[in-house]
Amino acid sequence: MNVAELIRQKRDGGALAPDDIRALIAAYTDGTLPDYQAAALLMAVYFRGLDDRELDAWTLAMLHSGDVLDLSEIPGIKVDKHSTGGVGDMISIALAPLVAACGVPVPMISGRGLGHTGGTLDKLEAIPGFSVNLTIEKFRSQLATVGCALCGQTERLAPADRKLYALRDVTGTVESVPLIASSILSKKLAEGIDALVLDVKVGSGAFMKTLEQARTLAKTLVAIGRGAGKRVTAFLTDMDQPLGRRVGNAIEVQEAILTLTGMGSPDVRELTLALGAEMLVLGGVAADEAAGRAKMIGAIESGAGLAKLAEIVAAQGGDPRAILEQKLPTVATASVVVAPRAGTVAAIKADEVGLAALALGAGRLRKEDAVDPAVGLELLRKVGEPVGRGEPVVALHHRDGRGLDEARRRIERAYRISDEPAAPKATRPLVIEVMR
Ligand code: URA
Repeated sequence: MNVAELIRQKRDGGALAPDDIRALIAAYTDGTLPDYQAAALLMAVYFRGLDDRELDAWTLAMLHSGDVLDLSEIPGIKVDKHSTGGVGDMISIALAPLVAACGVPVPMISGRGLGHTGGTLDKLEAIPGFSVNLTIEKFRSQLATVGCALCGQTERLAPADRKLYALRDVTGTVESVPLIASSILSKKLAEGIDALVLDVKVGSGAFMKTLEQARTLAKTLVAIGRGAGKRVTAFLTDMDQPLGRRVGNAIEVQEAILTLTGMGSPDVRELTLALGAEMLVLGGVAADEAAGRAKMIGAIESGAGLAKLAEIVAAQGGDPRAILEQKLPTVATASVVVAPRAGTVAAIKADEVGLAALALGAGRLRKEDAVDPAVGLELLRKVGEPVGRGEPVVALHHRDGRGLDEARRRIERAYRISDEPAAPKATRPLVIEVMR
């Protein structure tokens, strides 16, 4: 295979043959294709896209880079959810245990932080002792006994995505419909699900900035998923401001715990209930959305969802007290960003907030970077809320000042405070559209 020639072909707008795509993905996965050529190829795909035939071949090549699980011997309809990525999006950490507590098995393979967005794996690893590296045997047995397993790609589960995802993160090649679609579906189709709920984010904190782009991504994901014989529902949801009030790793686990105890932010609770109700309907344990919601609320009020998260944590080597007693890593130092004027918060650019968290150490600038589980930030004011001049709008939890100046600058850029009275009605709804 002449890799440089194939890169040129894609760069110049040609279509790659399925056999070439399979060979390229296989070579990158086994380490014979170096990062620099893979990065150039990704950039060519970023600019030129993939046609339907190429995308099919690319997704299947990533899917078959590892094992494809057959979970048919585990009773129940297996349902998962995946988000296309946002800021403050810790939904999976509350949602998966709630759905499992309601009787639907949830096998979940997640990703790490990508670009300005956080990753479920990095957040889970903020729980002391928690391992996201499960063997397939452990993944399978935990699903059968606990009803939910939360893990990352391994050498045997979608390894091509693990490598390509890390490379995209640091080469400016994230925001691409075919690369996102193949990344998500290679993981999801590998984990043996029967049905999938997708949370396609749109807005300043999403990879898809416009509704049109998000619709295209949602349609692509739904078409590939259904083509593979899965039941798929896609939600288009708002990511113009961060979800909830916390951005980071341990601090987002805290937000998930609050949601599981009924004390979380209203937007996080609403999205958890909406996605969860759909998962319960697809999983065959709720007749309709209203019944699904009622079950989800029941699992919050009874504490069953929180207990299930603690059970998952214990099963994966973590300390359940991290969940039940909120024993999570923290930093001793916080400083605040204050409002330069009085008014109402009119907008918060979520991508700037994500980049502020990254500057503090909550994400990676290079593939090799370690993530600091304890740093992050708290949004003390969200869109529509009033603020006085000099009052704090954001608390920055930093480690010895690392990244503090940049984070502060980004938060100052992110917040727009206006004279207008609160206009939350003018913002679009959290759930914008549902594709069933
Ligand atoms: N989530 C994924 O798993 N992959 C992407 O490329 C983006 C979001």
